[in-house]
Formats: sequence, structure tokens, C-alpha cells
Amino acid sequence: MKLSQAQRDQFDLEGYLFFPGLFTTEETRTLQSAVPDLYSRREAYNVREKDSQAVRTNFAAHMYSEPFARLARHPRMVGPVEDLLGEKLYMHQFKINGKMAFEGDVWQWHQDYGTWLNDDLMPTERAMNVAIFLDDVNEYNGPLMFIPGSHKKGVVEARHDLTTTSYPLWTVDNDLIATLVERGGGKNGGIVSPKGPAGSMILFHSCLVHASSSNLSPWDRVSVYLSLCAVSNHIRRFKRPEFIAHRDFTPIQHLADDCLLKSYPVSLPWRHGMPASALRTSLEEIRLAA
Ligand code: SIN
Ligand code: MN
Repeated sequence: MKLSQAQRDQFDLEGYLFFPGLFTTEETRTLQSAVPDLYSRREAYNVREKDSQAVRTNFAAHMYSEPFARLARHPRMVGPVEDLLGEKLYMHQFKINGKMAFEGDVWQWHQDYGTWLNDDLMPTERAMNVAIFLDDVNEYNGPLMFIPGSHKKGVVEARHDLTTTSYPLWTVDNDLIATLVERGGGKNGGIVSPKGPAGSMILFHSCLVHASSSNLSPWDRVSVYLSLCAVSNHIRRFKRPEFIAHRDFTPIQHLADDCLLKSYPVSLPWRHGMPASALRTSLEEIRLAA
């Protein structure tokens, strides 16, 4: 899938592109039906909400679940990102966020690249976030919110929030958020939240400031978040465990466009469990050969 010049211009201006209903109901069902089993597992890769057993984030399913391994190589998802970044990509992070009915907690205002820089020493912002809805997203079940154009500010000041939720995040202060929203048009477009049916996809810039509210509705809001990084921009530090920040920089190879409907062979290296090395952290930097 190639992007038009108008889409490229829009991405440059606003920092995101929305593709409502990009994946069909049948394709989305292949993914949805694999989630309950993944969420039921008592594994380190399932991070639960602070005050409940509901899964907040499942990490790295593309390493042990066949439908998600196929999604990670889907040309409708990988193609436009390669197009925008102009390079082959590897998978930096892979999450299935629950935001479960009544229990899904907030995601504070943040930029993803802030975390990737501070924690993983990713050299530049040449990485992309992709969100794929596995449930319908509406105004009630905690849709993602963006401040359009905020990616133009580069990396903004952030502090490491270890307490608000069950997952540590480099978050942006309220005063700066208020300023960015005002500059972005205030009540007239300073915050947007793309909503749509299951199967919709959003591409968003790694410096785009975003957040989401809690889910007080009776509807789950399960979404996959794939973070793809230009291979030359791979992380330089392994401070976080490998299931959160991947260390295999092999370029992603596309599968065929029908890969969510037919079975294609994919490698599932963690099918029988994560290796001990995937849980280890290290502050040791990679020494690059000249
Ligand atoms: C994220 O920013 O990584 C997740 C946001 C969300 O699930 O709403
Ligand atoms: Mn994020």
C-alpha cells in the first residue's frame, strides 16, 4: 500500500494518518479470537492494571502467537511505514493493550520517542507507532487522543512516572500539555481522537503527544500497538527486558496481503516460553563495529 502525496503532506502536518476499517471483519476476527488465551497466561509479558487483574498490556505476542506474527509482517501495515521512513524496519515493540470494560486505566500524556530515547538510547525519532483496533473504538471506551502537530516540537520535557499506573512512563506535565493544545487550536482541533470500527489503523509519529482516558464503558477497547523502527536507528542500550524493547534488528519481510486469512509459515521463537535472556536487563551499550 503506497501513500499519496496528500497523505504524506497530512502526516507531516498533523503527525498521524487514520485508515478506518483497513482490515476486514474476517481479518480482525483472526486476531481478536487469539486474545483471551494470551491474556489468561500468568507470564511476565502480561502487565496487569494497578488495581485489578485485567491485562493492561500484553507484550511481544508476535514472538509466540501465529496470528500476531502474521500481522507483524502484514504489507498493509508495514508498507506505508516503510514508505514514510524510506528504509527497512524492525519491530522495536509489540503490544496488545486491553483497556478492558470498566477496568482499563488511563495512559498519561506522553511521547513514545521520549521513552525510547531515555530508556533504550534510540538515536533519532525515525520510528513509527501503529495502532490497530481489535474492538470498535468510540467516545466512551477510552479512545487514543492526539495533539495534532505536537510532533514538530521534537522531544519535549518529561518525567519518569512510576506511580500513576502499573506501567512506568515518561510523561509530559499538564502546563506543557495546555500550551501545546492551545497552540494546536485549543477547542478547535487542539485535541483529536480517531474513532472507528474494529480493523481500523492509525499511523502516528513517534514524537506525537498522546494519551487516553480510563474505560468506564461496558465495551472493551483492545488495540494492537506496533512500534516499527528504521533498522539503522536501532536501540543502543538494553536497559529494558527484551520482551519490552526488542534486540533483534532483522528487517521485517512482508507476507502476502491475505496473510490473516490463510496460513503462512512464520517463526515463533518464544512459542514454548521466553528464554531467560528476554527477562534480563543490561545497561551495557552495544559497541558498534566501525
Ligand atoms: C500507548 O500510548 O502506548 C497506549 C495508549 C492507549 O492504549 O490508549
Ligand atoms: Mn504511547
